Amino acid sequence: MTTSRSAGVPRSLAAGGISPACADLQLVNVRAARPVPGSPQLTLGCRPRKLTTVPEVAITSADATPAILSEFLSEDEPLLSARRNAEHAGGAVPVAPITGAALRFLAAAIGARSVVEIGTGCGTSGIWLLRGMRAGSVFTSVDVEPAHHRLARAAFTAAGFPAGRYRLISGRALEVLPRLADGAYDLVFCDADKREYPEYLAGALRLLRPGGIVAFDNAIWPDDSANPAHRDPDTAAIGQLRQQISADEDLIPLLLPIGGGLLAAVKRSG
Ligand SMILES: C[S@@+](CC[C@H](N)C(=O)[O-])C[C@H]1O[C@@H](n2cnc3c(N)ncnc32)[C@H](O)[C@@H]1O
Repeated sequence: MTTSRSAGVPRSLAAGGISPACADLQLVNVRAARPVPGSPQLTLGCRPRKLTTVPEVAITSADATPAILSEFLSEDEPLLSARRNAEHAGGAVPVAPITGAALRFLAAAIGARSVVEIGTGCGTSGIWLLRGMRAGSVFTSVDVEPAHHRLARAAFTAAGFPAGRYRLISGRALEVLPRLADGAYDLVFCDADKREYPEYLAGALRLLRPGGIVAFDNAIWPDDSANPAHRDPDTAAIGQLRQQISADEDLIPLLLPIGGGLLAAVKRSG
């Protein structure tokens, strides 16, 4: 699996995008939460001799998975071109294809008409989100780098989205978010400065309508330090975000081990 690093964080760029933290295989009976009878006893780090098709078996990850996902989730030219641009530009590592597909799915599932993205990069996640949103809807994306916005605009045009379908706002997220309307958005996707994630959450919850979704990429951050007091600021902020989301009774959370880790939550009430 190919991985890349941005701000010290591995993000899978292989088409599968399974989190490197989950690169081994386990077979479990999801309902019973115990090993599947008759299947090989698998532990983390062991390779299976053979995969058995058993009802209600979850393959949480496997070495074979990236190839299958790669075939299932192949990206078209506008996405590949946005990805290449990001590599040249630097400082804008795109979401993994599987994360993009999950974002597109979430936007489509809630019939999103208005989405805010924090961290446009060169437009990869934006194309995925726009493809899940309703026809005629408007995508708003914030980035501090005008050069990234120029590339994102070109990517959206190449993907067939006219200028009226998106709004690119230049500036620091924490300065731009207060200018956006309360309760007016269906989905907020955060993928910018990890140290600001807890503050993005507060801003996103203000922007979302009841039933709206907030999502964060890179929510499974490698924790290199055994001592919490010595954690780097990114790791600490992401840990704080996970705690905030899991402790908030007004949120229905979901943490998926895909790409850099996708943490999403539905906001129940107003
Ligand atoms: C990981 S990249 C986003 C990648 C993008 N979501 C994609 O999939 O193509 C992070 C982006 O956030 C921007 N950024 C970093 N800090 C920011 C901040 N405080 N406010 C707004 N944008 C920021 C960077 O310029 C960069 O383009």
